[in-house]
Amino acid sequence: MGKLLEVENLSVEYVTSNIGSIKAVDNVSFNINEGDSLGLAGESGCGKSTIAYSLMKLHRPPAMITGGSIKLNNIDILKMTNKELQKFRWNEASMVFQSAMNCLNPVVTIEKQFLEIFKYHGITKNKKEGLKLSEELLSIVDIHPERLKDYPHQFSGGMRQRVVIAMALALKPKLLILDEPTTALDTVVQHDILQKIYDLKKEFNFAVIFITHDISLMMEFCDMVAVMYGGKIVEQASSKKILHSPSHPYTFGLKNSFPSLKGKLEYMEGIKGNPLNLSNIPQGCRFQDRCFKASEKCFEIDPEITSSGNDFFYCHNPLVNNGGV
Ligand SMILES: Nc1ncnc2c1ncn2[C@@H]1O[C@H](COP(=O)(O)OP(=O)(O)OP(=O)(O)O)[C@@H](O)[C@H]1O
Ligand SMILES: [Mg+2]
Repeated sequence: MGKLLEVENLSVEYVTSNIGSIKAVDNVSFNINEGDSLGLAGESGCGKSTIAYSLMKLHRPPAMITGGSIKLNNIDILKMTNKELQKFRWNEASMVFQSAMNCLNPVVTIEKQFLEIFKYHGITKNKKEGLKLSEELLSIVDIHPERLKDYPHQFSGGMRQRVVIAMALALKPKLLILDEPTTALDTVVQHDILQKIYDLKKEFNFAVIFITHDISLMMEFCDMVAVMYGGKIVEQASSKKILHSPSHPYTFGLKNSFPSLKGKLEYMEGIKGNPLNLSNIPQGCRFQDRCFKASEKCFEIDPEITSSGNDFFYCHNPLVNNGGV
């Protein structure tokens, strides 16, 4: 499998006059192979959406990319012209935003919204072709083509979300970014929609970046999981490793703050303290004051990367096989 996306040393800052500069993404690197799925986990405010927007170069002021590169099939997205970007978005990569179901235009029928996208991107030659493709896309997400004439309010939240997903897949992108695609929906609908996305992924072989607070849902659907804390990816490993033997104490804590969907009820405990204040990053490890494994070193030196194959973590006192806990 070839490498699809390579993110190297990406840094993104929010520069505001009242609070100064916030480094929301700090020197983050990760890769995704064609057809792979990567989950991006972490508490609210740790920088997940900021990464997602940057990957599409959809970040807007006060966000500024201050360093690094984002390459899709070896082409640096950050160096693309607006015209190149227009082609890149939807064609190469597309994104379903946090609360995307509210992005549909309420006064325009679904059919018209599909046709507008096709026209804008020059996908179909005429209305007839456009209608045919719209019908196909709706049936892909299990919605009857008859519903094309309906307005967004005539759909349930779950259906609206599926419509948005169908739109994101319209150009058969190689990468689909899902930023909390189902958070507003109930658990059963959430699960069904993700199952649908992963069935489609098998069929069309696109890669997925899946952002959610729900790490158990993520572990069920993703091959790899990257765990973010305060603007950094502190650990990345296969879902299996994250589930059974995480190395970083934060990963362990995050995993245990969620009940598992299947199997026995395990002991559940949140992580003490509050998320990191990004405008006041301490010396040493940024998880120091919340970490049950913290030692003196953690307050002085920022840990270096420890890697093995595609897995890596940043910690002075990693957990060993969940022992030591
Ligand atoms: N427009 C903005 N101006 C200033 N700071 C911002 C802005 N947008 C985000 N931030 C800050 O950047 C940090 C990362 O935000 P981001 O939205 O990427 O987090 P997130 O991990 O997606 O959180 P959530 O899980 O709540 O969606 C936060 O500390 C947030 O306060
Ligand atoms: Mg977010």
